[in-house]
Amino acid sequence: MIIEKSQDGFRVKVPCKVNLFLEVLGKRDDGYHSLDTVMMAVSLVDELEITRRNDDRIELTIEFPEGFGHPLDGEDLAWHIPADQSNLIVRALDQLRCTLGKNGSGVNVRLIKRIPAMAGLGGGSADAAAALLLGLLLWGTNEDFPSARTIASKLGSDINFFLDGHRNGFWLARCTGRGEEIEPLLCHQPLHFVIAHPPRGCGTRAVFTALDDDANQSRRENPNSLLTGLIEGDLDAIGGGVFNRLETAAMRCTDWIDRSRKRIDRYDHRGQCMSGSGSARFCLCSTREQAEKIVSELQTNGGVRAYYAQSWQSSGIDEQVKRIRNES
Ligand code: C5P
Repeated sequence: MIIEKSQDGFRVKVPCKVNLFLEVLGKRDDGYHSLDTVMMAVSLVDELEITRRNDDRIELTIEFPEGFGHPLDGEDLAWHIPADQSNLIVRALDQLRCTLGKNGSGVNVRLIKRIPAMAGLGGGSADAAAALLLGLLLWGTNEDFPSARTIASKLGSDINFFLDGHRNGFWLARCTGRGEEIEPLLCHQPLHFVIAHPPRGCGTRAVFTALDDDANQSRRENPNSLLTGLIEGDLDAIGGGVFNRLETAAMRCTDWIDRSRKRIDRYDHRGQCMSGSGSARFCLCSTREQAEKIVSELQTNGGVRAYYAQSWQSSGIDEQVKRIRNES
């Protein structure tokens, strides 16, 4: 995330994530699945701005910049983002102010939305993490960070990554448990990706259910060669090490998983994979130029929306919050 002070409040840019690796280790008693996943934040961003209100309401407004928010032919719910109590932003802020004893404090939140929903890119989780941070800046102190982290882990499995998945400027982490236990990892060089987002989305729950229905338990994969590749900056090892156990299950939810895989394979790239529970895919490229060329060709001939994204770089949120508080 990148945090700034705005005229009457605070603003953040929050990236989405791709899962470079995702293995399912088993089903837990609470119905969730134990994961071993490597997440990297990349530069397709949402923006949130928070300002105070005189009443106790949490009012969310959503805007789509040019090129976003318009359905492709036959598109379903990618841009269907609720602005009511069901939105994770509203729920996160409501829970945070309750925990901090600020029940009467209302806010306006403006969300500029680029990260599509039902794509496996963690857009809702990214927004919730950003909202918790903005709420902390308005209502809390640094001592309140643990409360925000607890709210994050209860609200969703990916939110903690966006708060804590940082090391040495890069946002890259191995995440276990439901996905909420974060071990930040080293990465030494920027990576260039194409994100391809087909017109059909995948519901996370439906994909995990399809996985449970699949009786064929194959051998478990591990991310060792990927992790070595990331440390050494070896694109072949990174591209060769991308893996997602949920891909076969997601194929049962929409044929777009396979269609977009085939479309991406028309081009020269270093490795491709589905992100999260789908339906978006990413491919790793050698250079930004190569990625941008694939983006433009996919947009013209692929039937999918395509974006260039680079591995996200920014300092950790503790450091940024300290700076903002010193400036105020
Ligand atoms: O954590 P989140 O709310 O994003 O998860 C949505 C749904 O995906 C859960 O209700 C659960 O059915 C499934 N899920 C799972 N195991 C995980 C994460 C999510 O089964 N580790």
